[in-house]
Order: sequence, then structure tokens, then C-alpha cells
Amino acid sequence: MRVLITGGAGFIGANFVHSTVESMPDADVVVLDKLTYAGNPKSIEGLDRVELVVGDIADPDTVDPLVKDADVVVNFAAESHNDNSLNDPSPFIRTNIEGTFRLLEAVRRHGTRFHHISTDEVYGDLEIGESRRFMPGDPYAPSSPYSSSKGASDLLVRAWVRSFGVPATISNCSNNYGPYQHVEKFIPRTITNMIDGIRPRVYGTGEQVRDWIHVRDHNTAVWEIIDKGRIGETYLIGADGEKNNLEVVQMILAEFGREPDDFDHVNDRPGHDQRYAIDNSKLVEETGWSPSFADFAAGLHDTVEWYKANEDWWRPQKDDVEAKYAKTGQ
Ligand code: NAD
Ligand code: DAU
Repeated sequence: MRVLITGGAGFIGANFVHSTVESMPDADVVVLDKLTYAGNPKSIEGLDRVELVVGDIADPDTVDPLVKDADVVVNFAAESHNDNSLNDPSPFIRTNIEGTFRLLEAVRRHGTRFHHISTDEVYGDLEIGESRRFMPGDPYAPSSPYSSSKGASDLLVRAWVRSFGVPATISNCSNNYGPYQHVEKFIPRTITNMIDGIRPRVYGTGEQVRDWIHVRDHNTAVWEIIDKGRIGETYLIGADGEKNNLEVVQMILAEFGREPDDFDHVNDRPGHDQRYAIDNSKLVEETGWSPSFADFAAGLHDTVEWYKANEDWWRPQKDDVEAKYAKTGQ
């Protein structure tokens, strides 16, 4: 089997490349990645049966021959960071919307199985304290340029399934954590700040809730959907991992033996989504998937250890990221 993984040098895509190579001895992997600031070829260096093609999913001449040769395309490529989308939305429109369109046109031409990776943020947010969770049929109500561009990409996939019979599925996952995540994101930023002796930064009150899932659990769910999911369907991926940002920062502070109030509140994110929470029952009932990393404290501990042991991987990005945050007082 030949698997085309777009965005395979990014956080979730790179972990997907690793687990695919480990668990599927007959699979050849081709990674198509533009190597933006978020893509790091070191994350997939030295793996057998993996070829990296540096290119843009929004370029049809690059995409077409790769899709033609693939049995399945898994689209992780995206601009993924909300804060960046507030500073400059344009690459989000090109990569997330036009890029998905170009991939869809190629899979339409070649009849290739397509799985589109998306986010729970397309559903907007929930209130803190309410019991409701996101369901696959909920209306789309995205808040940021990032989440609205992902919502647009999902709608393109749905339309290409219905109008052209493209064999596609979509998954919308909650917040991932684990190795190889860029230091701009909350958990790696906080861990690497601790390593550098910088106090963690909490946006606004810190009461916002995210539904954390280990990246490896996200990726086992993706393969279950590719294997067993129904064409045209949307599956929500989550592992009952709700925590507010204060709790997460305090768990990381504890990992470093520091006091629970040893952090700073900084400027809030404009339009900050309050709470995400996933109802994963459709995924579980239809595919039998279950998470393996249910203990968030243990997964977080391993993630802290990974960043301590892999400073050469994240160090080159750290100063630029902090300089960018300094401009918005975050
Ligand atoms: P990331 O920013 O770490 O990686 C994105 C990758 O895409 C990078 O390697 C980058 O170089 C590549 N890329 C960007 N533009 C490209 C283009 N035009 N052509 C080819 N490659 C391009 O992102 P991530 O956190 O790994 O997220 C991957 C996917 O998962 C995204 O679609 C995101 O919306 C979705 N998602 C992320 C999370 C999360 O918690 N990180 C949760 C749910 C869904
Ligand atoms: O829900 C899935 C989404 O999760 C994905 O679609 C996105 O690609 C991914 O980036 C993530 O989005 P968030 O905006 O939730 O993640 P981020 O790591 O940027 O922030 C998590 C929470 O922590 C959010 O409430 C903002 C807050 N935060 C973030 C940073 C970087 C802080 O309080 N301090 C920080 O330094």
C-alpha cells in the first residue's frame, strides 16, 4: 500500500508517519510537505520506507502525480495556529482552503481514497460548566480565521463527496499533545519556558477548557476511520480529556517542582473560545476505537521528558516564537 501523507513533517503528521511505518510493514509512505516554519524534516529523519517530497498542496502540478500513485491520501497539511491566523490570515486561506480544493480535484481525477484531518474548533465553543459536548451533526460556527478556514475545507470535502462521489471521510479532533509539537503551542511553550527559566504565560483568566488527547491516540483513530469509516461521514475524535488551562499549567509547574502560582496572566486571545469537548460515541460505536493514553498526567510527564531530552529539536524555533508573542503582550 502507498500512503500519501500531506503535512507529514508537522506535529501530528510526523507522529502519524512514525506509527504508520511501525504498524504497517507493507506500507510505503510519501510525505508531501512545504516545510513552512512548522514543518521539520528532522521529525521524520532516518525512517525506512518514507520519502519526503518538499512541495505545496495548493500547487496542482505537484499534487497530481503524487495522488495518482497513492492508494490513500491523508491530509494533515495546514496552517494550524490560531494566534498566527489573528496576525495574518492569508496563508490560512491559501493552504487550508485552496490546498484542500487542489487535493480534492486530484483525488476526484484518480478515484483515490481521501481522509481529511480537521478540528473540533469548526463547531465554535461551548460554555464553561455546561454538560453539552460537540456532536458530528452540530452546526458549524467557527470563531477565528484558522477555524473558519478549516470549516471551509470540511465543507469542500462534503460537497466533493456528494457532487462527485469522491471517496472521502473527515475527522475533527480535539487538542493534541505529545512529542514533536511546535513550541508556539500551549503545552510545549509552557514546558520550554520552564526549561528556560521563563514564567508560563496564561491568556486571560485561564479558565478556558480544552479536551486533551495524546497524539498517538488521535492517529490510531484516524487509521480506524480509514479502514472502517463510512464514506462521506464525519467522525469526532476525543478521549474525555477536559482540563482548564490553569490546571494544565499547574501540572507542568509541579513537574518542575515549582509553586502552583508561579505563572503570569497575560493579554487574552481576541475571540478566545471558552470550552471544547468531544462526544466520541459515533467513532467508538462504528469502529471499536479506544484510547491507550487515558492518563493525562502520565502522558504529560512523558511529554515533559521528551522536550528535556530533545532540546536540539526545538531550540532553533524558541527565540523567534517568544519574540512574536512579545509583540502582542503574550
Ligand atoms: P503543524 O502546524 O504542526 O503542521 C502542519 C504541517 O503542514 C507542517 O509540516 C507544514 O510545513 C505543513 N504545511 C503547511 N502548509 C503547507 C502547504 N501549503 N503544503 C504542504 N504542506 C504544508 O500542525 P498540526 O498541529 O500537526 O496539525 C495537523 C492537522 O491537524 C491540521 O489540519 C490541524 O488543523 C489538525 N488538528 C490539529 C490539532 C492540534 O491539537 N494540533 C487538533 C485537531 C486537528
Ligand atoms: O481544538 C483543536 C485545536 O487545538 C487545533 O485545531 C489547533 O490546530 C491547535 O493549535 C489547538 O488550538 P488551541 O488554540 O486550543 O491551542 P493552543 O495551544 O494555541 O492554546 C491552548 C489554550 O491555551 C488556549 O485556550 C489558549 C491558551 N494559551 C496558549 C498559549 C500558547 C495560553 O494560555 N498561554 C499560551 O502561552
